[in-house]
Amino acid sequence: NYFHSKFKFIGAAKKEDSLLPESDTPEVAFIGRSNVGKSSLINAITLRGLAKTSDKPGLTQSINWFELGSTLRLVDLPGYGFAFAKQEKSDTWNQLSVNYLTSRKSLKRVFVLIDSRHGFKDSDRQLLDILDKNHTHTQIVLTKTDLSEQLDLAKRFTLVANEIKHYRHVQDPILMVSSKTYKGIAELDTIIKSFKLR
Ligand code: GTP
Ligand code: MG
Repeated sequence: NYFHSKFKFIGAAKKEDSLLPESDTPEVAFIGRSNVGKSSLINAITLRGLAKTSDKPGLTQSINWFELGSTLRLVDLPGYGFAFAKQEKSDTWNQLSVNYLTSRKSLKRVFVLIDSRHGFKDSDRQLLDILDKNHTHTQIVLTKTDLSEQLDLAKRFTLVANEIKHYRHVQDPILMVSSKTYKGIAELDTIIKSFKLR
């Protein structure tokens, strides 16, 4: 499959001054709490094991770009933790990622990943508040759906759906995926492809 197999790692940034220069190439980004499955999801989309993953939270420490020719970029970000709003060492994360997510013109969609076992945490709400005020187009992705019973998933889905009602720039539908069984990945692919040039 052409779409899946042609992504390449093209750069990483740990500081503002090393952000990859913007171009006409559309970007879609993946954000969420540490360990929610951002890097695994990029691997499921690209089928290539391009993004490093780990069972320990906090593996991804930089913003990482993966490009498909000059037509589309997938962007992996470091996860946020328990202290998103507190003045802890997550400050550097806050600044770099929030600046990227709120000011990048080529950024077409931000997929906000939520663990389908846990639902929204305060840190997720705080990030969504910031992004929504900034008119950033976001979309919710419930991850790791292979780890829950169907009934629990349905409950979680309803709770999340209720919570996002008051946001104006969260796009429908809420997606449900598993990077392990690939459930829901095709639907996500279709949305991502819609941002691709040409
Ligand atoms: P940080 O980079 O630390 O912010 O984490 P991340 O959000 O990139 O998470 P990552 O993709 O590294 O995955 C974290 C852990 O969850 C790894 O052990 C993955 O194997 C596991 N995982 C990710 N997605 C799934 C999934 O869909 N199902 C199951 N069962 N495990 C998953
Ligand atoms: Mg990661």
